[in-house]
Amino acid sequence: MKVVVLTGAGISAESGVPTFRDADGLWEGHRFEDVATPEAFEAQPSVVHRFYDARRTALLAVEPNPAHVALARLEEHLGDDLLVVTQNIDDLHERGGSTRVLHMHGELRSALCTGCSGRSEWTGDLGDYPPCPRCGVVGLRPDVVWFGEVPYGMDRILAALGTADLFVSIGTSGAVYPAAGFVQYAATAGARTLELNLVPSEGTHLFDEARHGPAATLVPAWVGELLG
Ligand code: APR
Repeated sequence: MKVVVLTGAGISAESGVPTFRDADGLWEGHRFEDVATPEAFEAQPSVVHRFYDARRTALLAVEPNPAHVALARLEEHLGDDLLVVTQNIDDLHERGGSTRVLHMHGELRSALCTGCSGRSEWTGDLGDYPPCPRCGVVGLRPDVVWFGEVPYGMDRILAALGTADLFVSIGTSGAVYPAAGFVQYAATAGARTLELNLVPSEGTHLFDEARHGPAATLVPAWVGELLG
């Protein structure tokens, strides 16, 4: 069985990583136009760096939860027949044990050089304008896909959705495209579709089945069911 799992901020919520659109979410305290667009970075790079540097530092204080761990368990059984596509820029899937993870919106622990386009693993701050470890140019930005930019790995994602038997969406509001359109793409290609989310997402009616509750409970239960 080929499975594609799409995850969003909700899967990391119980680890203590804030979501975007819930009460107390990141977009409640910030206008995304001020920190998550190429225009914002051009106009006020230090504001943008401060925002992502703080989030990168906050990763040190959080741990994967049972939902991340359950997906790693599923990968142990399915191997290459499982692809986890995440919109999250945290590293909790990897720390939970998953290895086949595609970060379509980039990663906090990576820096992107505006000079050479190289991507470098990054654990410190970017706000003190360090040079690119590859080319030496001072021009590193967060390796995050901002509004108006093209997500990573779309060819690979669409290929996996096109051959999936099952598509599962976990902890995402279904408000941001292209990820919000994956359910229809997978369904059209013949996959069964399942939503696991705290509350019905914007696209909940598009799924064959939807279960609502906290990911740290729903995901291990679903994986247990699937693995018998
Ligand atoms: N368990 C399951 N779902 C949860 C939990 C939980 N414990 N807590 C919250 N949720 C759900 C919320 O109900 C909401 O539907 O997770 C969803 C989070 O939605 P968003 O905050 O919109 O996050 P996400 O869907 O990942 O956002 C997509 O938007 O701003 C961009 O680039 C950013 O990748 C992000 C994208």
